[in-house]
Amino acid sequence: MVTSLHWHGMHLPARMDGGPHQPIAAGATWTPSWQIRQPAATLWYHPHPHGATEQQVAKGLAGLFLLDDPTSKTGKALPHDYGVDDVPVVVQDKSFDSGGHPKTVPRRLKTIGNIGDQVLANGKVGATFTATTELVRFRLLNGSTARIYHLGFRDNRAFRVVAGDGGLLDAPRSVRRVTMSPGDRLDVVVAVKPGDHTILRDFPVHLADPPNQHRSGGDDTLDVMQLRGADQLKPSQPVPQQLAHLTNVTAAQAVKHRSFALEIPDINHRRMDMKRIDFAVTAGTSELWTLRNVDDMPHNFHVHDVQYRVLSLNGKKPPVEMQGRQDTVLLKPGDTIRLLISFGADYADPNTPYMFHCHMLWHEDLGMMGQFVVVRPHQHAGAITAHQTGMNNGPPSKDPHR
Ligand code: C2O
Ligand code: CU
Ligand code: CU
Repeated sequence: MVTSLHWHGMHLPARMDGGPHQPIAAGATWTPSWQIRQPAATLWYHPHPHGATEQQVAKGLAGLFLLDDPTSKTGKALPHDYGVDDVPVVVQDKSFDSGGHPKTVPRRLKTIGNIGDQVLANGKVGATFTATTELVRFRLLNGSTARIYHLGFRDNRAFRVVAGDGGLLDAPRSVRRVTMSPGDRLDVVVAVKPGDHTILRDFPVHLADPPNQHRSGGDDTLDVMQLRGADQLKPSQPVPQQLAHLTNVTAAQAVKHRSFALEIPDINHRRMDMKRIDFAVTAGTSELWTLRNVDDMPHNFHVHDVQYRVLSLNGKKPPVEMQGRQDTVLLKPGDTIRLLISFGADYADPNTPYMFHCHMLWHEDLGMMGQFVVVRPHQHAGAITAHQTGMNNGPPSKDPHR
């Protein structure tokens, strides 16, 4: 099987990014190496072969890439003992046939994708986590191909969001529900009592008008995982009131505005073409992107290479889920999101594109995706050569700008 491997949420030279131009043939080996230049965050990876991403992710090709910062005081104050009080929770949905084998349901072209009727936490239906500490940090990933979750606890307890897709928020935010679309990550800290028993659950949420509301799974109530407290709990440090230092962003910083209208199977009335570079951005500059969901079903928007900041959702302050450094945001029908993207000055390559796309994988496979390159000032987009440079069985060629 031909595949590829994309590090979702990672700031990487385009040649290491692992997009659709970098296939790994069956039996071949790809050995990229790079320097990590971004804050600690909950990231993940999955294959990205154009037209086959949904299928490969649904079959299980996906994993977490946890980036730690051992020098961060905040990182040490938050629960950080992997598997004990710092626990990844990969949330995915599936349907099974009577023999217990995962099944995919045939669907019409313009639908949300495969919505399963069972929810798995770290690959398991009916999972239980028993806490042994007063506070637990869950690193939540929506690793589903299409389902959007509205997560909270059965007893409606409040919990604190401490990080978004690209790392810590400026301060913890107390919530009772969080909405996560495919590809989204959120780190949450939950307080537990001795002998506790509750359930992390997906609750109904308005995603679209009927019939797409029902088809998108917005009416469903599904259990993700049981959360229990041991009889005795070890004390935890309090969650710091200040987390990361996030700089203020304003539209005034942008040197360029672009807009993106999402309507299945297009972005701006165009479908993905492997040979078309949609635009070039200049390394070291910031841009204002306006996203509009002009469709009657939910979509989301993911950008490779960068973590961006959301300026507004429908003209208002963005919700907690969008207040950090983000690489994936949900747009319900009619939503408009304005975001500020700052492109690093460290990598430029006019010939190797990054992707932007809807991260609902059926939509991505249909072609709700486009490509951009990062260039030096006054440089233009070149012709795509990544399919030559990336496809090899040895070490990748070096980024000439590093
Ligand atoms: Cu997680 Cu281009 O995707
Ligand atoms: Cu979509
Ligand atoms: Cu996100």
